[in-house]
Amino acid sequence: MGRKILLEHINVPGINSYDVYRSKGGYASVEKAIKTMKPEDITEEVKKSGLRGRGGAGFPTGMKWSFLAKPEGKPRYLVCNADESEPGTFKDRYLMEHIPHILIEGMITSSYALGVNTAYIYIRGEYFYLVRILEKAIAEAYANGWLGKNILGSDFNLDLYVHPGAGAYICGEETALLESLEGKRGNPRIKPPFPAVAGLYGCPTVVNNVETIATVGPIVNMGGDEYAKIGVGRSTGTKLISASGHIKKPGVYEIEMGVTVEDFIYSDEYCGGILNDKKLKAVVAGGSSVPILPAHLILNTANGEKRLMTYESLSDGGFATGTMLGSGGFIVMDESTNIVKNLFTFTRFYRHESCGQCSPCREGTAWMEKILAKILGGKGEEKDVDLLWDVQRRIEGNTICPLGDAAAWPVASAIRHFRNEFEDFVRNPANQQDIKYYFHCNNIDSAAAYSSI
Ligand SMILES: Cc1cc2nc3c(=O)[nH]c(=O)nc-3n(C[C@H](O)[C@H](O)[C@H](O)COP(=O)(O)O)c2cc1C
Repeated sequence: MGRKILLEHINVPGINSYDVYRSKGGYASVEKAIKTMKPEDITEEVKKSGLRGRGGAGFPTGMKWSFLAKPEGKPRYLVCNADESEPGTFKDRYLMEHIPHILIEGMITSSYALGVNTAYIYIRGEYFYLVRILEKAIAEAYANGWLGKNILGSDFNLDLYVHPGAGAYICGEETALLESLEGKRGNPRIKPPFPAVAGLYGCPTVVNNVETIATVGPIVNMGGDEYAKIGVGRSTGTKLISASGHIKKPGVYEIEMGVTVEDFIYSDEYCGGILNDKKLKAVVAGGSSVPILPAHLILNTANGEKRLMTYESLSDGGFATGTMLGSGGFIVMDESTNIVKNLFTFTRFYRHESCGQCSPCREGTAWMEKILAKILGGKGEEKDVDLLWDVQRRIEGNTICPLGDAAAWPVASAIRHFRNEFEDFVRNPANQQDIKYYFHCNNIDSAAAYSSI
């Protein structure tokens, strides 16, 4: 059994309550930090741990913290990104639902480290049940002296607020999140300046993912060096993976970084193999934004080495033959999956969620959806596959925020690895019997979708 750090006590009855959480050593990191460590010592431990942001990009957390500008009379803020809207990713909500205090503890320890006296948890609007859970946990933390004034008799004060968004994927992008938190429309900001210099209300701000912040408590407790011993190379520690799709045991798993992809899919400790023992066709390893890989490339790298669940191994080969760990949204597809239909669903999502600020993203996502609808609707021509390739290429790297890239990469990788399936739709539209039904179920007017092409 792999080591569990965040989910160590997940099966303890009542672990969502303050008393049980505390009886299992909860809030020890706050005591250790405030009573025995200087704030900068904590950043040092986080650096030593090698922790990388769990929100998707994998940026080293300790380094991000050390970029935080000197306060110079302004407050500093810590904002937890609990927006979690990436299709295929559901680990943060699982953690907040079942062990909410691990996040509150991480917020307090991290705020102490960063010199923050006001912190926010920005949460996706649809997760209203989680707002109640978090508010209850925060009230318990205040009642027990972990939040408020003079925490543990020190001169450290902290207020923590939960702020629900209105349910927009773009508000997970950290600068759109800050705009939304300030009460404005969630449009991403042009960077620089980065939030570490000018973030919330123009003040130095750290934005970190739920899992990242929840990991800070255990790092402080065990020490950064100890944490860094888990994992492989620059992928240290454990990672929560949201596993879904055609597997026998979907759910959230905590893995030690370095488990092979094969073990993760087939072993009983994790996904338990492919549903109905069908053949594996493809995997989207890190949430809908990352490139899809066919079975042979997700199980082994192009050099024939076993692919590992690490940042480096999953991206081995670049986008030609690799992908990304991303947010750990692991979507497994069996041999019955239609890649083009699946891609259409993803592309619709990105078109719907584009904020519309940048024309390559606003126009490009709409065109990709239209071209795919045309192909799926049986009106596709061979040139449309090249057109689709061309459109996605014009989005990538040409937008203020990476939503454009996130929309382009699934399209590029699907064409790269499964071009024959697109061509099959174009050449044999009559074979695609179920497509009308598909459009019907998804409430799509296919004629309208491609009539303007
Ligand atoms: C469109 C878009 C959506 C995002 N959604 C989330 C999200 O829901 N949760 C999250 O933690 N990061 C999300 N991110 C990444 C954040 O911008 C940011 O990198 C992250 O919160 C930093 O935290 P970390 O360093 O702990 O990973 C998103 C990025 C983009 C471009």
